[in-house]
Amino acid sequence: MTSVTMSTTDPARTKADVVVVATIPADTGKDAPKQPALTAGAKTVDAALGGRLVPILTDLGATGRAGELVRIPTMGALGVPLVVAVGLGPDGAIPARIRAAAATAVRGSRGHKKVVLALPASDVESIAAQAEGALTGAYDFVEFRHSTLEGRQAPVASVQVTVAGREVPPATARAAVKRGVAIGEALRFARDLVNTPPRDLPPAALAEAAGDAAVAAGATVEVLDEKALARRGFGGLVGVGQGSTRPPRLVALRWKPARPTVHIALVGKGITFDSGGLSLKPPTGMETMKTDMAGAAAVAATVVAAATLRSPVAVTGWLCCAENMPSGTAIRPGDVLTMYGGTRVEVLNTDAEGRLVLADGLTRAAEDKPDAIVDIATLTGAALVALGPKIAGLMANDDAFRERVAGAAAAAGESVWPMPLPAELRDRLDSSIADIANVPPSAGRDAGMLTAGIFLKHFVAAEIPWAHLDIAGPSWNGGEPSGETAKGGTAFGVRTLLSLIESYAP
Ligand code: BES
Ligand code: MN
Ligand code: ZN
Repeated sequence: MTSVTMSTTDPARTKADVVVVATIPADTGKDAPKQPALTAGAKTVDAALGGRLVPILTDLGATGRAGELVRIPTMGALGVPLVVAVGLGPDGAIPARIRAAAATAVRGSRGHKKVVLALPASDVESIAAQAEGALTGAYDFVEFRHSTLEGRQAPVASVQVTVAGREVPPATARAAVKRGVAIGEALRFARDLVNTPPRDLPPAALAEAAGDAAVAAGATVEVLDEKALARRGFGGLVGVGQGSTRPPRLVALRWKPARPTVHIALVGKGITFDSGGLSLKPPTGMETMKTDMAGAAAVAATVVAAATLRSPVAVTGWLCCAENMPSGTAIRPGDVLTMYGGTRVEVLNTDAEGRLVLADGLTRAAEDKPDAIVDIATLTGAALVALGPKIAGLMANDDAFRERVAGAAAAAGESVWPMPLPAELRDRLDSSIADIANVPPSAGRDAGMLTAGIFLKHFVAAEIPWAHLDIAGPSWNGGEPSGETAKGGTAFGVRTLLSLIESYAP
């Protein structure tokens, strides 16, 4: 694992393999050629290079745009053989850009052991962002790859965040690094869970991994196994899980500070593999369905982070874990399930399973009378179609709460977009024999993201503010890494949920 520490040592006088400085586009007037400008932190490194950093970078075509990475050998002028200049872009030194730049620089430095970051560090947010970015940039999922595979370079082993200025005292800076490390590690944990192949992460293993991490962070865990679930009437979880040889679990992770004034409940979809069940998906539709537990992973990581950071807000995370498989014991289209709380659901399509396990989780979460509930789920392909691979759909039963969640996401640097839950679509879910159907009849399959949200809303009492995040798009990055976003599992949602929780801190 990559270690991240704080240092007050002048980066021009330190021993390391790489020193990272940041650039922004220089304001040179309209017609002047584009060139970069250095940011705070680069001063002593530039001086050691005789003040030639900007001309060298300009000669190399650097402009300071976001994501730009330029390497300059120091040829003995510094104790560090390589300077890496990373672009922040025109928004300049805001924490979100610094986090992305730290990640880009650390990812780009794989194969080197020790990296010193000499980036803007004049406030605690920027310092925490560097630590978080360094850890996410160093992320690599290697467990299932042969270690001697040719051409793979190891992630950076140690990163130093330089805090040389007087704006932030060392003890405060050290605490900021600790905070960034806690969040970075939570993000890595969520990514590991999502990236793990489905054979290796059945519901019981997901429950165990989440529980172990939560307990290690100071939270408590309670797991309901298939027998307990059946005894207590969790018909959604039992029904979805009954086609698999690997039975379902409902996990409660509880972080409870000394005198909490607010209690937030989080509910995550934890389908460890979604084959569609008897309403079987086509092969290509299954290729990434190990990611169908990304909501549960985000909830687990959020509780771990809240506990590690000793949040003053009480948080309960509910992980609704099941494997959706076709078999002789699987639920059939046309079956009726009795959900936790008694509602009867006609299952017309077994591939709309996420809403079935979430209905149980939402009902159980509401029993504790939390101040608000947020569920997070890779719920519909329709969300991916509507919003693409980077943006989550956000729905709620309360406008003010939806805006609060949207604000938390904006502050966290995650993209969510508000979606409606139109009342006139509700009757599409009318069942001819049960209380509600899990999907509309085949004629009404447009607005799939919204009808899924409307189904969930049915299970939440109107007096509890509730929001639903459909992360089918942004939970997985099928493309190349960029900024803090890795290939594969992204841990999307953790930062939004943590930011929401922290918005309630007194
Ligand atoms: N897990 C899928 C949704 C999904 C699709 C997530 C693609 C990520 C990428 C979900 O369980 C599902 O299968 N939904 C169905 C609902 C339909 C049967 C109403 C869908 O979107 O097709
Ligand atoms: Mn499905
Ligand atoms: Zn699913």
